[in-house]
Amino acid sequence: MAEKGKDIFKAAHLLSENALVSIPTETVYGLAANALEVDAVLKIFEVKNRPSFDPLIVHISDINQLSNLVSQFPDKARVLAERFWPGPLTLLLEKRSIIPDIVTAGLPTVAIRIPDHPLTLELLSKLSFPLAAPSANPFGYVSPTTAQHVDDQLGGKLSYILDGGPCQIGIESTIIGFNKEVPVIHRLGGKSIEDIEKIVGEVVVMKHSSSRPSSPGTLSSHYSPNKVVMLGDMTSFHGKIDPARTALLRFKEYDAEIPKENQIILAQSGEVKEAAKNLFAAMRELDLMDVDQIVAEILPEEGLGRAINDRLRRASSSA
Ligand code: TXA
Ligand code: MG
Repeated sequence: MAEKGKDIFKAAHLLSENALVSIPTETVYGLAANALEVDAVLKIFEVKNRPSFDPLIVHISDINQLSNLVSQFPDKARVLAERFWPGPLTLLLEKRSIIPDIVTAGLPTVAIRIPDHPLTLELLSKLSFPLAAPSANPFGYVSPTTAQHVDDQLGGKLSYILDGGPCQIGIESTIIGFNKEVPVIHRLGGKSIEDIEKIVGEVVVMKHSSSRPSSPGTLSSHYSPNKVVMLGDMTSFHGKIDPARTALLRFKEYDAEIPKENQIILAQSGEVKEAAKNLFAAMRELDLMDVDQIVAEILPEEGLGRAINDRLRRASSSA
């Protein structure tokens, strides 16, 4: 168990001593350390059991901090930052040497965002350094959206969890890079493609590769519960799986074939936003049920539905 609380001064003090602190954001909880100190950043990789080829996201509280950290700020990146920060959008920008190579896994670009959470913004504004923070889960598992999720899995390895309540977006940030002037989506996330295209025009969505990922968080098998996850509805699996040993992840309505206690509805309201907010907690809950497999319903492929489907597809992949 780690200590949980809202003490920003304590968090700031620990971080300035190169300790790890879990921080709330609007997307998921992060596992934070001083991004400019190699020793502090190394602890993140150790605690998460994260391969060193997987770069981290750097969090700042003010767009003016960028000039110290990156060497270029393309026009389209600037427009997106001005429109969507603080918020669930991460920009890949040419790094300056002040960012240690371990943060970017040797890549020339650094991933940066301003998170939209009052506690974490206040914390960042008190620090003289930015925070490197991946999601606060063991590598490959579902991201945490409450302080308790963090404590359940990493509590024993952390100094402090800054408890900012449940995450309001619930799914990780959208990651966007620039190939010359063309915006390239490296990871679907909390800011929809539709919203981004309204600001910068057409974007390219990168195909995922599990062999040489440029965003390893996009590995085909990731965000995975320990149980087998299958995509579709019960009719697609008739005769193939035992309904009595199956739990369902449903968008807005129960399936009449399966007992309600073995089903989780993501959004009573039918709103995709609500589904995103509940997704990871639901996956954790399903993982604890006494069943052999989880059958997850795919959402309409639009807006945040794309990012949710992306996580479900990767949860269902064993590659
Ligand atoms: O919402 C979020 O983005 C959360 C909160 C805590 O900010 N963070 C998060 O971090 O999801 P993480 O480490 O779980 O995912 C970061 C992703 C990884 O897939 C990583 O490969 C990618 O960002 N990434 C980081 N730097 C990159 C770079 N220079 N080029 C391409 N991908 C990069
Ligand atoms: Mg992650």
